[in-house]
Amino acid sequence: MQLKTLVAATAVQLAAAQELMRFGCSQLVFDRIDPLVNPGFLPSPHLHQIVGGNSFNASMPPDTLDPPTASTCTSCTYSEDFSNYWTANVYFKARNGTFKRVPQFANLGLRVEGGVTVYYIRGYRSGDKVSSFKPGFRMLVGDPANKVAAKVPSGNCFRCEHNMQQSPFGGAPCTGADTKNFPKGQCNGGWRVTVTFPSCWDGKNLDSPDHKSHLSYTATGTFESGGPCPASHPVKVPQVMYEVMFDTRAFNNKADWPADGSQPFYWSSGDDTGYGIHGDYLFGWKGDALQKAMDTKCANDNCKALQRQTDAKAIACTKAQTAREDIGTDKWLKELPGASQMVQS
Ligand SMILES: *[C@@H]1O[C@H](CO)[C@@H](O)[C@H](O)[C@H]1NC(C)=O
Ligand SMILES: *[C@@H]1O[C@H](CO)[C@@H](O)[C@H](O)[C@H]1NC(C)=O
Repeated sequence: MQLKTLVAATAVQLAAAQELMRFGCSQLVFDRIDPLVNPGFLPSPHLHQIVGGNSFNASMPPDTLDPPTASTCTSCTYSEDFSNYWTANVYFKARNGTFKRVPQFANLGLRVEGGVTVYYIRGYRSGDKVSSFKPGFRMLVGDPANKVAAKVPSGNCFRCEHNMQQSPFGGAPCTGADTKNFPKGQCNGGWRVTVTFPSCWDGKNLDSPDHKSHLSYTATGTFESGGPCPASHPVKVPQVMYEVMFDTRAFNNKADWPADGSQPFYWSSGDDTGYGIHGDYLFGWKGDALQKAMDTKCANDNCKALQRQTDAKAIACTKAQTAREDIGTDKWLKELPGASQMVQS
C-alpha cells in the first residue's frame, strides 16, 4: 500500500473509532424564551438562538408536550429530530456604548443557514451500550452567571479562527490555543464556540431542579479516554456537543474597540468574560430513531439509519419571534435585549 493511501485509511479508521455523528441545524428563531430555565416567562431574561423542532415554546411541559407530535417541521438535517438545542447569543459593544448582534454562519461542510452543528458522540469504547435519552428528557450545561475560568465545564471553549475554516469542521475542540474566555483579539475567520454536555445519566430523572444533577461526568478519566460512568449515574448516554460559528469579522475595526484594550464582546446574558458559556438541550427524537443511530454506530454526517430531509426543507423551518423586540441585527441597540431584567452579578 502506498504511504498516502495508508495515511488516508488510518484517518478514516480513527474517525470511525470515535463514532461521532454530526449534522447541521439551521436557525429556527432568535427569541427571549427559555422553556427549561424560565418556563412560561414571556419574555425570559436573555436572548437565545434556537434550532430544531418548531414546537419550541415558552412553556414545554414534559408530561403533556411531545415535540415529535407537536412540531410540524424541524430545522435539523434528520427529519425525525424535533429536539431543541439552544445557546445564548454574542453581542459586540462599540466604543460609543451601543450593541449589535454578532451573526452566525454554518460550518463549511454543511449547507444550512446560521444555526448550530449538533454532535451525538458514542465515544471510543466501541463495545459500550449507549442509551438514547427518553421522551421528556432535558438538560443544561454551564452557568450564565459564572465569572470564573475554573468553573467552565470541560469541553466548553472558544476558538479564534484566523482564516475562514480551512477544513470544514476544524478539528478537536478545547485543544491548542482554544480558550475558556472570549478570544481577546481580532479573529479574521470568526469564532468557533463549542458547548459540550456530560455523558452519564442517573437512569431515572428526566430533569432535576438545577437541570444538571441528573447527569454526571465519568468516574475516572474522561469521556474521550473511555472513562467509566459513576455508580450514581450508571447509564452511558451520547455526549451531546454543539458548535456555533460566530461571524465576528464585521467587528474587527480596532477604532471601535475599547480604548483601554479590553475586549468588546458580550454574551446576551450580560457576561463580558465568556465564562458564562452555557447550552440547553430538550430531547425530541421520534420513536427509537436516536437509539437506532447509536446502535448502528452512525458516524460523520450521513447516518443510514435515519431519515434525511433536503437542506432546503431544513432551512425553510423557522418560527416567528414570540417576544417581539429589536435584537440588534441591523440596528445598534442602547442596551442588550432584556438588560433591565438581568440579575447583576
Ligand atoms: C405556545 O404556547 C402558547 C401559550 O401557551 C400557545 O397558545 C401556542 O399554541 C403554543 N405554540 C406552539 C407552537 O406550540
Ligand atoms: C456607535 O458606533 C457604531 C460603530 O462605530 C456606529 O455605527 C454607530 O452609528 C454609533 N452610534 C451612535 C449613536 O453614535
